[in-house]
Parts: sequence; C-alpha cells; structure tokens
Amino acid sequence: MEVKNRKAEHINIVKKGGVEYKETSGWFEYVYLIHQALPEIDLQDVDTTVNFLGFKLSAPFFIDSMTGGNEETKEINRNLATLAHELGIGMGVGSQRAAIEDPSLADTYSVVREVAPDIFIIGNLGAAQLLVYDVDKIKKAVEMVKANALAIHLNPLQEAVQPEGEPKFKGVLQKLSDLTKSINVPIIVKEVGSGISKEVAINLKLAGISAINVAGAGGTSWAKIEGERAKRAKKMENYNLAEVFGEWGIPTAVSIIEVRSVTDLPIIASGGIKNGLEVAKAIALGADAGAMAGSVLKELLKNGYEKAKEYLVNSINEYRLALFLTGSKNAQELKRKRKVLLGPLAEWARQVGYL
Ligand SMILES: Cc1cc2nc3c(=O)[nH]c(=O)nc-3n(C[C@H](O)[C@H](O)[C@H](O)COP(=O)(O)O)c2cc1C
Repeated sequence: MEVKNRKAEHINIVKKGGVEYKETSGWFEYVYLIHQALPEIDLQDVDTTVNFLGFKLSAPFFIDSMTGGNEETKEINRNLATLAHELGIGMGVGSQRAAIEDPSLADTYSVVREVAPDIFIIGNLGAAQLLVYDVDKIKKAVEMVKANALAIHLNPLQEAVQPEGEPKFKGVLQKLSDLTKSINVPIIVKEVGSGISKEVAINLKLAGISAINVAGAGGTSWAKIEGERAKRAKKMENYNLAEVFGEWGIPTAVSIIEVRSVTDLPIIASGGIKNGLEVAKAIALGADAGAMAGSVLKELLKNGYEKAKEYLVNSINEYRLALFLTGSKNAQELKRKRKVLLGPLAEWARQVGYL
C-alpha cells in the first residue's frame, strides 16, 4: 500500500477511536504536585513561557508529529499549524517520507510554514528512512517546512505489527550519530507511543542528538492501530501480535523518569497527555515540554477548529493554574518543587535511582 493511503487510513482509525492504551494513561495519576495554600504569587504573574532549544514558546506545549501526504492531511496540517501559530506553541509534522519519495506532495507539509511563519516546527522522518536516505534527502525534509528541528522517530513495535512494515533497526544508532554531524538543525529522537528507556537515552546522548521526545504508553497505541489495519486486510498473524502487544510500552511518566535519571537533554513528554495538569506533572518530573497528538486530532476532526482551539487554550490555562497552586512563577521553579510519587511509579523511580 502506498505511504499516502496508509497515512489516511491511520487518521480514520484514530478518528473512529478504540486504539488507545486502556491499562495505562501514562501513570500521571501516581504523581502528586503539592498544593501550596500560600503561593505568595498572583495568578496573573505566573509566566508560562519557556525556552526550548533556544526558541521561546508562549507555553511548554507542542502539537506532536502526525500528518501530511495527501489533500485531507494538508487541510489537517493547515489547521494544526494555525492553532500553533495562534497560541504561540510548537508543532511537528508527520513523517515526510511520502513527499521525499513524491515531491508533488511537498505542499501538504509546507502549508504549515505558510500559515505559521514564526512557530517552532519540527520535521519528521523515521529510523527506516535514516538507513536508506543520504544526507541530501534528509536535508530536503528540513527545507520543505523550514524546520527548526528534525525529529527521527523510532517505532519498532509499529513496524513489527504493520502488515507491510519494515522492522529493520540494525545500524540506526550509527546513522543518528552521523546525522548529527552533517545537519545544521537540532535532532530530536522520538518514539511513537512505547516510550524511551534509560539505555536508549544514554546511547542517544552519546550519539550527539539534541533532545528526546519520550512518546510513552498512555495514549495512542500503534500496535492497536496497525492491528485494526491487519484485521481489515485479514492478515491474522499481524492481528494476533497487536492483540498481545496492544498495551506494550513504558508509561509516559515512567519514561520521563528513565530518561531524566541518565541525561540532562531537553525532554518533550508525549503519550496520553490529555490536559495542562499532566503537562505540569511531566515538567515536575523533569520534562521541558508536553506534546499532544491523538487528543488534539480527534477534537479537530470531530468538533472542528474552534473546539480544538478551546481544548488547547484550556490546557494552557490548566498548566498556568498548576504553576500558581504549587507556588511556582515559571517552569524552572516548578521543577524544583516537592512532589510525591506513589505506588508503582515510586517503586520504579527507586529502581532506576531517580529517587
Ligand atoms: C494520526 C497519528 C499519526 C502519527 N504520525 C506520526 C508520524 O508520522 N511520525 C511520528 O514521529 N509520530 C507520529 N505519531 C505519534 C505522535 O507524534 C505521538 O508520539 C503519539 O501519538 C503519542 O501521543 P498521543 O498519545 O498524544 O497520541 C502519530 C500519531 C497519530 C495519532
């Protein structure tokens, strides 16, 4: 199946629903930020702005990498970029493989730069492309959207479950290390919903990448999405894998702890982030920004642009309130505030030496 059709199918499956993690929503329920009845600041003085990789965002939020590659997704990208532009937050485009292989599709991605000339845009390619593209092709992805950074996604579970997947990851780390030396934008390495472990984080840091998006388990499950496609295509072996691995992965809060326990690289937290309080919890754990993918997309597709905007505006307000109630003027102060980790998250944090 052509890449562009596959991407459209992914969007439709996510819109229909039922492909999210059920057993975990990221483990943020085990993180308690401590209420301070004497915040000693005024709500209006809370500063939500942050600096991410040298770029000022109005709040530590990204719309995570999702789409591009056909007319329908061009419209989605236009809307997502307009949202990011209006709110002063960052945005990633989906895998640009479709447009690298068929340049006539480039406008379905570059539309984001047209409507949002000044936002932080993250380009996107997969580990699989890294193995076969030369550096000039990779630079085309950056130029296509005038990207401020390039994300390389690691998706071994998705590739293994996808009927036409390519679960080939040998040599990816070396390619990543080479890429950081030959490209002049920061490289962000991200998962797509199964999380980044501390072992991977150490290797990524040694490879010289600039930031990590943990994209942990808690929201969109790529095993479930590919399982749904496998079922439709009657590829029952793939469907079986999805049934067993639909809940596989490192919960998002855990992945932040894993990565933060071994590196000081900037961290984006995605994977089941539903509101601004969870972004605040992610930052208190050590992340530098939160990102939302499936939840924003569903709001946009089901209820339209204004509702999607309301959802993000509310999320930023919730983040601001969490700062106020913990007595934090900004994200730096929030990171230093006392927090309590409960249950399995506390146990995990102890085992990796985070606590
Ligand atoms: C429809 C859809 C398409 C996606 N496509 C990509 C992609 O092309 N590249 C990528 O790195 N991640 C992709 N992702 C993964 C997201 O960027 C994100 O890491 C993941 O969905 C976890 O966030 P969520 O739980 O908020 O959805 C996609 C997610 C969705 C929902």
